[in-house]
Amino acid sequence: PFPIYEEFRKHSPVRYDQERNCWDIFLYEDVDYVLKHYELFSSEQQRLIRRDNMLRMDPPRHKQLRDLVNKGFTPRAIKELAPRIQEITEQLISNVLDQGEMKMIDDMAMPLPVIVIADLLGVPAEDREKFKVWSDILVKGVEDPQPEVYEAVKREQEDVHQQLKEYLSYILERRRFHPQDDIISSLLSAEIDGNKLTETEILDFSILLLAAGNETTTNLITNGVRLMTEIPDIQRQAKSDLSLIPSMVEEVLRYYSPVQAPSRIAKQDIELQGESIKKGDIVVAWVGSANRDEAKFPAANTFQIDRKPNQHLSFGKGIHFCLGAPLARLEAQIAFEKMFTHFTNIRLKEAAQIKRTPAPQMFGVVEFPITFS
Ligand code: HEM
Repeated sequence: PFPIYEEFRKHSPVRYDQERNCWDIFLYEDVDYVLKHYELFSSEQQRLIRRDNMLRMDPPRHKQLRDLVNKGFTPRAIKELAPRIQEITEQLISNVLDQGEMKMIDDMAMPLPVIVIADLLGVPAEDREKFKVWSDILVKGVEDPQPEVYEAVKREQEDVHQQLKEYLSYILERRRFHPQDDIISSLLSAEIDGNKLTETEILDFSILLLAAGNETTTNLITNGVRLMTEIPDIQRQAKSDLSLIPSMVEEVLRYYSPVQAPSRIAKQDIELQGESIKKGDIVVAWVGSANRDEAKFPAANTFQIDRKPNQHLSFGKGIHFCLGAPLARLEAQIAFEKMFTHFTNIRLKEAAQIKRTPAPQMFGVVEFPITFS
């Protein structure tokens, strides 16, 4: 999509799409502005199923919930998970080490975040596969203007939402009497202004973690490996200096951003680049374009492993800044480090086709088979 974004940045950086009935915005300064100004651009939109979660809330409720869960997701708290993430990654790598090839998504990039989130929620190992299937359906974007398609996907999502809720509520009931060291247990004892969270609030938050964290992290890891194959110099540089990995992860996030476009609803009439956005209009903030904006990033279309500064917008900006960013970063850093340690000469398997995941607001591939020595 990147050449198209560039066209739009040059000629129509704020444009109305008649078919999708929304505004698309492409410049870094505008995307940054829209995401920062929650008082002008609301997150309370219900285009898909009704999801009462913090991603779709405005202040003050957003702040209350966010304050409550923040401490479990600080970089320091997340760092404690490193040994467990390393163990899972080593295990996944040892499964394929002798084969000289692997399916990047099925063998590593998909299971790693699913196992980590399932662990955090207190879900037993035997239910993980079920989780993966559910979370995939939950995040499937529906841009389809055909009412039948839209309705069908919406129904499917409502079903899955219900199934997940029932399953998690079973875990929740068990934790009520036997608290463990997991998120559901800690939310059961949490309070806002002296009030406990309702069961529904706890379940909706748990489902949000699944929906927001799995496919995105899978895509980050896979996009990184894809870049290793497209620009083999990355392998040479990072292998000889593993301390480059954290900045490599940031550059992967900028260059192939897993989330391309969060959206908002205008809360009042507002002008951007001379275009008049009306109250109630949908505004799609193309982070994937902002991250390639030359006005912000010199040589924006060049992958620079040690790029500094690198203020990409891939985790959003402002009050909704990704809660899971420290976790996603850590998982990707460990995955890349283990790959550089165990593999050389990582390549896309011969004759494999690269096919993009269908939702335009995400950036990933459906499969990515690799070979290695
Ligand atoms: C919010 C991206 C991983 C949980 C966001 C937003 C973005 C984003 C762009 C802001 C959306 C908006 O402003 O409308 C990503 C990317 C990830 C990732 C690219 C991986 C590379 C995760 C993980 C978790 C997570 C691993 C949880 C374990 C959340 C939550 C929010 C959020 C709860 C809502 C925060 C709020 O509304 O205050 N993420 N995310 N994300 N993300 Fe992530």
